[in-house]
Amino acid sequence: MNHALQDTGTAGQPILRVTGLKKTYGAILAVSGVSFQVMPGEIFGVIGPNGSGKTTLFNSMLGQITPDAGKIELNGEDVTHCGPLQLNQRGVGRTFQTLQVFGKMTVRDNLIVAAQEHQGSMFSRMFAPGDSGLGARADALIDQFRIRHVAHKKAGELSYGQQKLVDIAMAFMSEPALVLLDEPCAGVNPSLVGGISTLLKELNRNPKIGQHSSFVVIEHNMDFVMDLCHRIMVMVEGQVMAIGTPAEIRANKQVLDAYLGN
Ligand SMILES: Nc1ncnc2c1ncn2[C@@H]1O[C@H](COP(=O)(O)OP(=O)(O)OP(=O)(O)O)[C@@H](O)[C@H]1O
Ligand SMILES: [Mg+2]
Repeated sequence: MNHALQDTGTAGQPILRVTGLKKTYGAILAVSGVSFQVMPGEIFGVIGPNGSGKTTLFNSMLGQITPDAGKIELNGEDVTHCGPLQLNQRGVGRTFQTLQVFGKMTVRDNLIVAAQEHQGSMFSRMFAPGDSGLGARADALIDQFRIRHVAHKKAGELSYGQQKLVDIAMAFMSEPALVLLDEPCAGVNPSLVGGISTLLKELNRNPKIGQHSSFVVIEHNMDFVMDLCHRIMVMVEGQVMAIGTPAEIRANKQVLDAYLGN
């Protein structure tokens, strides 16, 4: 299942390289000198206790906040100071820790609007969306996510788990090369977690829809992370404690003591 990709140096250029990233909030060192890289096609997990800086790291990589120091490179290009729209147009997609679906729109329209935003339509939230040629892609994702039976329901009428699926599907509408997922299983019924994992594996592999997307996934559900990710980074108090394969992370004594133990 987990087939570790070739690591740094030998497998060509990383899709994402983060070097010495730092972000403080007053006296709080939210992210403190974090460095790692993600290879094309890799599923890279980020784990760590609450408040260890995982979401702050994401927000920096997405241009939502400006880091105090450090560098973020996408395919070798310095994007440290790019905003969210610029990053999205360079192929970075995301899902949020909290749901971001439009409850009063249908599932299908949510997907179409997500792609229109990628294309920079200022008016996409103000008018009922037309198809914009995106319907075929929305339909392909609706089938892949097995949500055809609710495609024409208002998203707000779905269960939390189903809304979460819509939220994840929205991130894939812009055909991203790199997707950052912040806790895709949070609040989801345990019976749906395996389905999300299967889906992400399909999207990672499927050249038509996922285009061999690389993922960075924050998640507290250890079974999910260990099964899905090629490599995992452990953050503790804003710093990197370890990076390794699931087997290496499971066997790391320092990680066991600080996070995985008991
Ligand atoms: N906008 C902010 N203003 C002030 N402090 C912040 C802000 N955002 C995050 N922090 C602080 O930075 C630290 C890291 O927070 P962050 O949300 O990145 O952690 P996390 O690893 O995502 O946690 P969780 O697993 O609970 O989602 C915490 O101490 C948090 O309180
Ligand atoms: Mg978080």
